[in-house]
Amino acid sequence: MRGVKIIGTGSALPSRTVTNDDMAQMVDTSDEWISTRTGIRSRRWCAEGESQHTLARDAARRALAAAGIAPDEVGVCLVATFTASAATPSTACLLQRDLGLPEDTLCFDLNAACAGFVFALHTAASLLAAEGPAALRPYALVVGAEELSRVMDMTDRTTCVLFGDGAGAAVLRADAAWPALTATWGSRGNDEALFAPGVGARDDAGALRPSYLTMDGRAVFRFATDVLPRATAEVLERAGVAAADVDRFIFHQANKRIVDVAVRKLGVPAERCQGNIDHTGNTSAASVPLLLDELVRTGALGPGARVVLAGFGAGLTWAACVTELAAPLGGAAEAQDSYGESD
Ligand code: ACO
Repeated sequence: MRGVKIIGTGSALPSRTVTNDDMAQMVDTSDEWISTRTGIRSRRWCAEGESQHTLARDAARRALAAAGIAPDEVGVCLVATFTASAATPSTACLLQRDLGLPEDTLCFDLNAACAGFVFALHTAASLLAAEGPAALRPYALVVGAEELSRVMDMTDRTTCVLFGDGAGAAVLRADAAWPALTATWGSRGNDEALFAPGVGARDDAGALRPSYLTMDGRAVFRFATDVLPRATAEVLERAGVAAADVDRFIFHQANKRIVDVAVRKLGVPAERCQGNIDHTGNTSAASVPLLLDELVRTGALGPGARVVLAGFGAGLTWAACVTELAAPLGGAAEAQDSYGESD
């Protein structure tokens, strides 16, 4: 069986910066309320010419460049998202075209909301693990991409201040000499705590559902502060890795206070769990790979680093995994605004 490591990362954020003061022009809120309750100071929203699809494409291109591999070496292409630019074709199929991936690359989208990137990493690692005549080419491109600004009620101050748009990507390489990616996950069907619309979504009684995201913030907060530390502790135990031997805990960026609770419950140093929600907001499936790429590009993580990635969100869903980074992981010096301006 082949294990995997992450050998390249990339990200893309849209060009429009929306500060908390900008939000206060739109709804009855303040920089003080948002920053103390969530840790968010600004977020990025797509402007004209930008979309979930263009962000996914830019992040994917950067991850392939950082991994130093050609498109025709990719065996699997997965995109985690619940705000794809189209219901079909999948964003993964569009990436097949945009990047020139071979037609026998396994391409599909996956929806596990904010846990989606970790679900996708685990799925890709499992697909790459196969050996023998059916073995896939040993590289997987895994992307988390969202355009949440498209599904938000811009008059609802309890949700619209929280979310941002963005995309992050990672390239996995499989090698028989490497350890397996260890993961843990869970799902609990619930359409009340957090709901986002599909086209013409109806409830079980046939009534049309709201056309924007709705959330019971307190219920999600309680859920998140339970599952995030629990899944992290469980995956460390499953992997036989001590928390002290983890270089970084890369947690889904939904609310800094959720991460603070996880840090306390796990008893790990806060500096190894530092996030980036202050300038991204909650970007759902994009948040974990966006933070991972930021840490790689700022030199905080490099080849040999061991990381825990963990997400939680709508579904409800949660997942955590332990994995390592390996060379080449280029791109740190690449000429790109670290927060997303186009090349
Ligand atoms: N500005 C000012 N006041 C506000 C705002 C705002 N933007 N939003 C709510 N308030 C008010 C409320 O109306 C309430 O007023 P009241 O006491 O007069 O009724 C007060 O602030 C407190 O509201 P709470 O909901 O209790 O605030 P809380 O401290 O719980 O913070 C928050 C709310 C930030 C949403 C928090 O509950 C949270 O982070 N929940 C988790 C969300 C999450 O993690 N989502 C992730 C999943 S995302 C996905 O899967 C797509």
